Amino acid sequence: VLGRRARCGCQLIAMPATAAWQPAFADRSAHVRASEIRDLLKVLDRPGIISFAGGIPNPQLFPRDRIAAELSAIQQHQALGPAAFQYSVTEGYGPLRGWIVQHMGSLGVVCDIDNIVVTSGSQQALDLLGKLFLQSQDTALVARPTYLGALQAFNAYQTHYDTLNTGSNAPTVATYRARAAGRGGRVSLAYVVSEHANPTGTTLPLEERRKLLDLSEQLDIPIVEDAAYQGLHYDGEPAISCLSLEFQRRGSIEACRVVYCGTFSKTVAPGLRVGWICAAKAVTRQIALIKQGSDLHTGSLSQMLIYEVVRRAYADQVAKVVAVYRRRRDILLDALNRYLRSDAQWTPPAGGMFVWVTLYRKIDAADLLRSALETHNIAFVPGAPFYYNEAEVNTLRLSFSLPEEASIAEGVERLAQTLHTYKPSEPHV
Ligand SMILES: Cc1ncc(COP(=O)(O)O)c(C=O)c1O
Repeated sequence: VLGRRARCGCQLIAMPATAAWQPAFADRSAHVRASEIRDLLKVLDRPGIISFAGGIPNPQLFPRDRIAAELSAIQQHQALGPAAFQYSVTEGYGPLRGWIVQHMGSLGVVCDIDNIVVTSGSQQALDLLGKLFLQSQDTALVARPTYLGALQAFNAYQTHYDTLNTGSNAPTVATYRARAAGRGGRVSLAYVVSEHANPTGTTLPLEERRKLLDLSEQLDIPIVEDAAYQGLHYDGEPAISCLSLEFQRRGSIEACRVVYCGTFSKTVAPGLRVGWICAAKAVTRQIALIKQGSDLHTGSLSQMLIYEVVRRAYADQVAKVVAVYRRRRDILLDALNRYLRSDAQWTPPAGGMFVWVTLYRKIDAADLLRSALETHNIAFVPGAPFYYNEAEVNTLRLSFSLPEEASIAEGVERLAQTLHTYKPSEPHV
């Protein structure tokens, strides 16, 4: 079908329906699916809606004036101006990699510029790492629930999943291996959002981090540490990253199995699409080769803008974001205590953008969302898509980064009202 259409000049109007394209798609694309919830949430710009759904940074916090000033300075600069619009090296803009080396040093990881590859957001890092480590039918160890974008990235490599468990009832190494072999592959990586996770808001306790390092050693697999929310810490001492912990154990990044993924999306601006991988050189070298085949390099202008912003104002920018999100988190937790205590339990996060709610009634939060949108003009994200299997459907994620402070309490009140008037559209367990 495709061949014939492509040769004929009318293919744009006579484009075959999706089903007709199916035989042309590689098998791995069958593992990449559109989300039904995304469709439900298309109404988020409806007037009067209060939305806890958008798991994205608040645009009011983007340092737009500073970015505009830096853009103009780069444009006028004799060397930087042309370079900003030219192809560049795959590993990333040298000064930015240098800044990241210092930043990793401040986290206790001594490394050099060759341990860093700049990526197009940390999402690209997840994709590149999936490409590097996951053979078809291999098993990735992930939390239940975990970041949906990681599942989406890994799914493309025809990956199976097993539950990453570092608690007292954890499976043995032999069990993990046997289960993976039963699925036709090996255990090839463990993925963890170590701080203020998306979607649960939780942080991996120190003792569990140690066990995770032990597990990766015993299984001889890398740990992909997704540190997307590491800068957004609101109470007490921040946790030590898994990479920093392993660095303490081994004394050199070259001996570490943790591959750290950082990003400027949550602290500066996600639209610039700048993140990074920090890992042993054996890994970064290979990642650079793979990235070359993917996008040659991350946008030169974006990298320069990020560099100019963070070298001058990273601490101030993070402090500004933290102050706003901390206040919103407090208002949300307060409202949950006021309106939802008899209906649900939740995780009070020490940072990040999310509160994870488990309803006491075993109702499907996707069905509840339909009702919430219809009857109370309120939105959230149902929990099911964050599970690789056997979803706990009575869960939902509330994001507090976007809703106005003044509407958060009303939003939670509406959620409670939705719950009290909710009747399932079909019977549930
Ligand atoms: C846990 C986690 N990792 C990675 C990402 C991707 O972020 P980016 O590609 O903008 O760095 C997100 C975005 O929401 C996230 O929540």
